[in-house]
Amino acid sequence: MDFKKKILCIGAGYVGGPTMAVIALKCPEYRIEIVDINHEKIKQWNSENLPIYEPGLEEIVKKIRGKNLFFSSDIEKGIKEADIIFVSVNTPTKTFGKGAGMASDLQYWEKTAHQILKHAQSDKIIVEKSTLPVRTAEAMERILKSNSRNIRFEVVSNPEFLAEGTAINDLLEPDRILIGSHPSKEGRAATDQLIDIYIHWVPREKIITTNLWSSELSKLVANAFLAQRISSINSISALCEKTDANITEISYAVGSDSRLGSKFLNSSVGFGGSCFKKDILNLVYIARSYDLREVADYWEMVVTMNEYQQDRFVYKIVKEMFHTVADKKIALFGFAFKANTGDTRESPAIYVAKKLVEEQAIISITDPKALENAKIDLKGLKNISYEIDPCLAAKGADAIAVLTEWDTFKHLDYNKIYRYMKKPAFIFDGRNLLNHKELYDLGFNVYPLGQPDLNHFE
Ligand code: NAD
Ligand code: UGA
Repeated sequence: MDFKKKILCIGAGYVGGPTMAVIALKCPEYRIEIVDINHEKIKQWNSENLPIYEPGLEEIVKKIRGKNLFFSSDIEKGIKEADIIFVSVNTPTKTFGKGAGMASDLQYWEKTAHQILKHAQSDKIIVEKSTLPVRTAEAMERILKSNSRNIRFEVVSNPEFLAEGTAINDLLEPDRILIGSHPSKEGRAATDQLIDIYIHWVPREKIITTNLWSSELSKLVANAFLAQRISSINSISALCEKTDANITEISYAVGSDSRLGSKFLNSSVGFGGSCFKKDILNLVYIARSYDLREVADYWEMVVTMNEYQQDRFVYKIVKEMFHTVADKKIALFGFAFKANTGDTRESPAIYVAKKLVEEQAIISITDPKALENAKIDLKGLKNISYEIDPCLAAKGADAIAVLTEWDTFKHLDYNKIYRYMKKPAFIFDGRNLLNHKELYDLGFNVYPLGQPDLNHFE
């Protein structure tokens, strides 16, 4: 079949896979190819077991794979043939040298630029899909313009706002599509080509066009604002625990103000995920590099508050269990950084598990999708077991700590679980997910977040 246009995506990860699958689904006249340096991952994308779990993704991939959606390891051929190249490689926090622990590690990004430069034989639009420091497009352009073959590359920014666990829905019904480009004729033409793609299913008024730098920076700011709301509500949860106010009631009362809105006000054991922390630290680093100390300090506190919340949760477990968890079994309900994903990157569960092991607790972990990743995250640690069945994880345990808001945890037979556990039995609900009164009535000593404890002790 003759395709109207060929689109390549470099990076077949959590963003590249779902994003391109939806574009391919909605634009059958475009040929979409996704490439990756990780051959094993490409094999998985071409198999029955996709490398990531995302509700709705498998159905789409199986429907269009081999028709207009292709996964390949042949990066060179992909670059040669493509009209438009999306780059969605990872941009983790730098772990070495200047900016270590803060700045974005752009080595994968830069390697991609050199790959494109080496193999391209015709003009191309390069789309920044990865989250990048403001003004990265400038560096990309400098690399790409160093070609002597008279090939023209137009770099545009089109950051991705999907959240894991709801990625397909977010992609099918986005709040907005953001496209940043140079104000030149070529920049506008490249923007038009991207609009041509999204207009297949996104209303035109939801497609926002800006200058390149606003687009790059908007992505970091959006994540910083979202994380800031969580740190704000979590900071208040600590105050609630001192004053007998109730964080759930406060979230509702505050979120009912239409100027504030109700979303992202769920108090938790802390935000996780591959991006919030890295993107805020990147923002902090950028602000510092422009000598904006107050701006940097302001945003850094969002991360500090998140670390405090995770610490506070572990400290509470130890304190309430009579100041020691040594040799006690604690069942961790959930390991993914949020529900409906198997992703554990920066999951608060990693921190909680490691801290509890340091306190010499015996840990059993249950999670419907994240056990394989949990095993990798905790490799080498002793006294940890993994159970797909929550009842078995809780068998003989002194306490349960709820770390991920999986719906299935709400519907377990807690009567049976209570009978399986040692007494006194504790539940620390790091997501305020469960029905605390019912659990208390069954005999549990219940410790929610930012709400009064329900315990049977005198
Ligand atoms: P990921 O690690 O899941 O995927 C990135 C992929 O890029 C990996 O498979 C890696 O092998 C591949 N890669 C790296 N260098 C390559 C190269 N030179 N050539 C070919 N492939 C290469 O990462 P992700 O979660 O998809 O995130 C990608 C970007 O999107 C990041 O900048 C992230 O901040 C941003 N983002 C992520 C999310 C999310 O929910 N995960 C949402 C929005 C934006
Ligand atoms: C987040 C953003 O929501 C996306 O818009 C963005 O594209 C993405 O980061 C990214 O750039 O990677 P994601 O991290 O996948 O998406 O998931 P979120 O739903 O934002 O949850 C992040 C963390 O915050 C999770 O640990 C979640 O449990 C926690 N959270 C969320 C809370 O603790 N309370 C809330 O009210 C909401």
